[in-house]
Amino acid sequence: MQNKLSTESYKPAEDTFFLEDHIKNERGNCALDIGSGSGYLARVLSKSFSIVVGTDVNFDALKTQSSKTTNLVCCNASDALLMKFDLIVCNMPYLASYEILDIATDGGPEGVVIPMKIIISAKNCLKPDGKFLFVTSSLSNYQKIVEKTKKLGLEVEILDKKKLFFEELILVQAKNSI
Ligand SMILES: C[S@@+](CC[C@H](N)C(=O)[O-])C[C@H]1O[C@@H](n2cnc3c(N)ncnc32)[C@H](O)[C@@H]1O
Repeated sequence: MQNKLSTESYKPAEDTFFLEDHIKNERGNCALDIGSGSGYLARVLSKSFSIVVGTDVNFDALKTQSSKTTNLVCCNASDALLMKFDLIVCNMPYLASYEILDIATDGGPEGVVIPMKIIISAKNCLKPDGKFLFVTSSLSNYQKIVEKTKKLGLEVEILDKKKLFFEELILVQAKNSI
């Protein structure tokens, strides 16, 4: 079965707004929104950062953004970028899935495989004192993500959790240890 690359971007949802709550007061020079989709979070970041870049693997999603933003790159995570960022954010595709049928939501086995690809890539684009904030869920093995991210040499903290009807959203912060 082929990956589902919808021609539409993911519509901002509870997980988007949960991440928004934690980034709207962040300040700095450069910010990156990985898996930017509709552009909603990049738009939030553009209020308090001078340079905001959004990436997404889904080119059609970037072309049809409902919150139009600039500086968009179609690539895996931050693989095509050489810049370093003060803040990186990502509302992960976190659902545990055997296959990637919907690229917007499926995180692969245990909901760990795609998030780890994204985290490994993002680490290369963090400034020495930069931080990466991402959302995952109780529907994934998020403890495994935390452990694997620590093994990359990042300082990891669960900053917040939010109970929804069928899952709990988890907000994770990963920082370079300096
Ligand atoms: C849950 S949606 C979040 C969209 C938007 N940021 C929001 O919060 O409303 C995840 C997004 O990540 C993108 N994505 C999935 N895997 C990716 C990867 N490896 N690199 C970059 N983007 C990816 C999807 O196309 C989708 O737009």
